[in-house]
Amino acid sequence: MSVRRSVVAGTGAYLPEKIVTNADLAKIVDTSDEWVLERTGIAERRMVADGETTSDLAVKAAEAAMAAAGVTGEDIDLIVLATTTPDYTFPATATQVQHRIGMTRGAAFDVQAVCSGFIYALNVADNFIKVGQANTVLVIGAETMSRLLDWTDRTTCVLFGDGAGALVLKAGEGDGTSADRGVLSSHLYSDGRLRELLYVDGGPSTTQSTGHLRMQGKEVFKHAVTNISGAITAALDANNLKPDDVAWFVPHQANKRILDATARKIGLKPESVVMTVAKHGNTSAASIPLALHEAVADGRVKRNDLVLLEAMGGGFTWGSSLIRW
Ligand code: ACO
Repeated sequence: MSVRRSVVAGTGAYLPEKIVTNADLAKIVDTSDEWVLERTGIAERRMVADGETTSDLAVKAAEAAMAAAGVTGEDIDLIVLATTTPDYTFPATATQVQHRIGMTRGAAFDVQAVCSGFIYALNVADNFIKVGQANTVLVIGAETMSRLLDWTDRTTCVLFGDGAGALVLKAGEGDGTSADRGVLSSHLYSDGRLRELLYVDGGPSTTQSTGHLRMQGKEVFKHAVTNISGAITAALDANNLKPDDVAWFVPHQANKRILDATARKIGLKPESVVMTVAKHGNTSAASIPLALHEAVADGRVKRNDLVLLEAMGGGFTWGSSLIRW
């Protein structure tokens, strides 16, 4: 049986120039390089310059992904941009990116699922392709988390960073089996009861301000390993695959300890885990495409490799995506 598949045609990423080390943070809050590195695996993060916005980062990542895919703005039917730090409350940041990449037709919108945003956006884009509503889609994760942090709160400000990543999906054909190239499956979940564990204490219809990120880290950690493991198992089961079949595990880069614990629990080979959290911290919706691009650019991810993505974030939201490269 012939089915439509969303095949990855190119990836791109962009990190702002300014590097902020753990030692830099120790000058503004009571922390240390040793504490942050040991608890999270984060050594440094990037921070936007004054006036630099989420759409600035998104455009740079998108341009790199389009160049890798050999497409221009005119070829794109749809942009799905995952962010929790949009330039403005409206219009959607995706429409600013649309304008700046020279795309004058089609549609562009944002998806808000915090750290799981890229998994959600990828699923939305895949569905648009599968039903035939789009042939070429730009999926972007872009964040300026530094603008959402309380820089007096050492329990959160050391964890996050800014950045963007993108990929271009193109419609392809498959047999409907896990040997097909493209997105094989997506699993999305959410549970609004757990809002208090990770949220922002402001917004247009509550405080008329942006607010700051608040988190009960220990509780989030516990839920993260359980939820992420469940989403991974669902992805493997749905495709009759085993952990050993996965060539590359590209998780949301939140915390090295969460990723190590999850890989151990599922039985994923440690050498298959793509880990970039040390260099950019938790960049929310941008972290998966940032890690993915690094592993593609350095030649680790090759055609036909099975790539497993997962994420969890505020809401809670979580999910997984399995892609044959
Ligand atoms: N520097 C130094 N000490 C600190 C810091 C800091 N930056 N932050 C907290 N501490 C202190 C605490 O005050 C506490 O001190 P106390 O014992 O005197 O009370 C001590 O360190 C231990 O704090 P815990 O919160 O118990 O530390 P824990 O080992 O749980 O690590 C962390 C905290 C890193 C936040 C961890 O819980 C975590 O990573 N949780 C997951 C959070 C996460 O990744 N969220 C991202 C979004 S969800 C996702 O993407 C999966």
